[in-house]
Amino acid sequence: MLKCVHKTITLSIATVVLTSISAFASFDGKKDAVDGGMTYPRANGTYTVYKYNDQNISPLNHGRTPTANELKAWDTDIMPDGTGLPKGKGTVEQGDELYEEQCAVCHGDFGAGGVGYPTLTGGDIASLTNQRTPGHTDAPKRTIGTYWPQASTLLWYIHDAMPYAHPKSLTWDETYAITAYLLSANEIQIDGKDMDEDFVLSNENFTKIKMPNEKGFIPNIDGPDGVKNVKAFLSDGKNIGAVGTRCMKDCKDDNAVAVVVSDPRTDVNPPFSEVRDLPKKDTSTIAPGQEDYEKSCAVCHGNDKMGAPDLGNKDIWAKVMKKGIDKVVEIAIKGTGAMPPRGGSTLSDEKLKQVIEYMYSKSK
Ligand code: HEC
Ligand code: HEC
Repeated sequence: MLKCVHKTITLSIATVVLTSISAFASFDGKKDAVDGGMTYPRANGTYTVYKYNDQNISPLNHGRTPTANELKAWDTDIMPDGTGLPKGKGTVEQGDELYEEQCAVCHGDFGAGGVGYPTLTGGDIASLTNQRTPGHTDAPKRTIGTYWPQASTLLWYIHDAMPYAHPKSLTWDETYAITAYLLSANEIQIDGKDMDEDFVLSNENFTKIKMPNEKGFIPNIDGPDGVKNVKAFLSDGKNIGAVGTRCMKDCKDDNAVAVVVSDPRTDVNPPFSEVRDLPKKDTSTIAPGQEDYEKSCAVCHGNDKMGAPDLGNKDIWAKVMKKGIDKVVEIAIKGTGAMPPRGGSTLSDEKLKQVIEYMYSKSK
């Protein structure tokens, strides 16, 4: 009995891994993709490996349709082969300075990581195959140097997503410089050589960077052979944890391993709840304005690193309060110094005032 349970667990873990990979295998819409995996019918004879939520969901009615120009601004794929690399250049040394000004506040000196913010350097490539969960000392230590398969993703990500509060504020020259600095801090080589502080990274030499974990993602889903690679990978049972002789039904032979397709909603005891409502929040302890503050303002006002009056700092806030609440709301609407209009949020005047009153109440 015990033996049986053990085998079932092994296979359901394999199913989870396989489920996430096999989404690609069903792109061609046929159901031939996956060995033992679950498939769910969808419209037009296609299948998916995820259960489709067919609940009647009303539209969210958030936001608006982006304009063609906005879409163009965000459509900046940069591919590993150099396609889409923007013109630009910067040195490791310039990147070091920019990093200290704009990134260290969250990511720590030399990318060492801050409380709650990702570590960008160090890491351990040998640890990547460890099975422990994050937080455990034996968990994989993933950083740019040990984990990221392509430097192009790094360049693109920094430009489009960082610094956290002002994405897209860096020029491409600055982005090349910071990328050079972070690669150098991760001891990544280019063309077999270290990047010293005078090294100039540019669109011309960028594709010569080789990331240590380039081949770490198996199967390789990139490029025109992506689907073929995935199928070949999955059709070899050894890759997905299957051992011994396969048996699909009436598996009486004690030595055979049953292929068990496990449904995590029902194959556990007791079954997972399928209730879709979020548990009711205890709203009695949430002050008016608090949630909006945490969503839209805390990133800068939660500490004094950004030069924003930090929550709880009585002296600084006393000076703000002196101006009178209406004046301060007006300032917050227009933005001031490094603070964007409405703190970058879409809060109404009234809500903004509520948030500021909340900030006052926490800083008296
Ligand atoms: C206000 C804090 C903050 C600042 C400033 C900031 N970051 Fe980040 N950064 C974050 C957070 C939070 C994440 C995680 C985002 C996520 O997972 O969605 C992140 C993620 C990253 C990652 C991905 C790490 C990984 O391995 O997943 C990189 C690379 C990065 N930042 C680079 C930079 C650079 C370069 C700068 C300066 C130009 C910068 N960051 C400035 C908060 C910040
Ligand atoms: C991107 C960072 C950032 C975000 C997000 C942000 N602030 Fe600020 N805020 C600042 C900075 C920086 C200052 C100081 C500006 C100065 O004095 O030059 C400031 C100042 C203020 C002040 C004081 C204005 C005065 O008259 O001295 C108020 C009030 C304020 N912010 C409210 C908010 C509220 C409310 C939100 C969220 C809706 C918010 N901020 C989001 C950066 C930010």
